[in-house]
Amino acid sequence: MTPAPVGLLAELTHRCPLACPYCSNPLDLDPKRNELDTAAWQRVFAEAAGLGVLHVHLSGGEPAARPDLEALVATCAANTLYSNLITSGIGLSPARITALAAAGLDHVQLSIQHADAAPADRIAGYRGAAARKAEVARAVVAAGLPLTVNVVLHRANLEAVAEIAALAERMGARRLELAHAQYYGWGLANRAALQGPRAKVLAAVREVEGLKARYAGRLVIDHVLPDYFARHPKACMGGWGRRSLNVTPSGKVLPCHGAERIPGLDVWSVADHALGDIWTSSPAFNAFRGTSWMQEPCASCPRREVDFGGCRCQALALAGDARATDPVCVYSPKRAEIDRLLSQEAQAPPPYRYRARV
Ligand code: SF4
Ligand code: FES
Repeated sequence: MTPAPVGLLAELTHRCPLACPYCSNPLDLDPKRNELDTAAWQRVFAEAAGLGVLHVHLSGGEPAARPDLEALVATCAANTLYSNLITSGIGLSPARITALAAAGLDHVQLSIQHADAAPADRIAGYRGAAARKAEVARAVVAAGLPLTVNVVLHRANLEAVAEIAALAERMGARRLELAHAQYYGWGLANRAALQGPRAKVLAAVREVEGLKARYAGRLVIDHVLPDYFARHPKACMGGWGRRSLNVTPSGKVLPCHGAERIPGLDVWSVADHALGDIWTSSPAFNAFRGTSWMQEPCASCPRREVDFGGCRCQALALAGDARATDPVCVYSPKRAEIDRLLSQEAQAPPPYRYRARV
């Protein structure tokens, strides 16, 4: 029996006013004409609730680009799904935030890029973004919605984590997620520009751990560690096909945001199948479930049900084989190559390749 998924990431659109170089969306973005319509998303949410999903993350791109966002939030509420809006804030007026709260929105996760406006706008590729985000944070708090501030950490903001935590507290956030960059989609294309030197990355890790203690009781700080520097990989998605599913703007259902790039993976769409059938029977979800697909050294490793061999998309990107041990693992034969690559890339970062707009 496959246990029920807990969460669903609904990528409502790939459209976004920002162009962040660490974006995990694919290089081939879904155009607007391919997006699921309102009724299709509403069916997906009803099926998700029936399947046992508890949380829906309304994401993108920028979900506020969808004029039906309020209707989609209301559908989540009607199905007793906890709704989390993952937003850049651009496109959210105070009136719209009030309407979303009235529709039943449960939580807002607002991204910021830096504590200072000039580097924040440069990273986002959008002049005035930082000021707009500050207004959105005020409106979210005024509407009584719980606010999480999310920041992707990389070379350009590693040394600003203390200022970022202070800003998140001033914004009225209850939670701050400091997530070291992970390299998928546009982020992978920009890895050499984003990756900080080892000493700075590790100094930021220590500083964030200190901030967690300093802000205890005022601001919860979640720290997503830089797994390229870890001994063992992350259990990506909590294990393939174990906890959650991603639905792309055009309705493909993926075990993770990078899975579309894995060659030969047979991905099913909500246009052709019920969500429950996809979860239990889609070849893509069954490709890396459990441990039977593993090669050595994972196949006989005592951690195989702790990290599930790491991330399949990272194995593809770094080792050229989605079935390989995640190369960031200390037991991977490719680990020394990763260390070489990191020290080379840290020398001379290229300019950002900004995410395309669709
Ligand atoms: Fe995880 Fe595989 Fe490394 Fe073991 S060998 S720690 S299962 S990635
Ligand atoms: Fe695809 Fe990690 S992002 S398995």
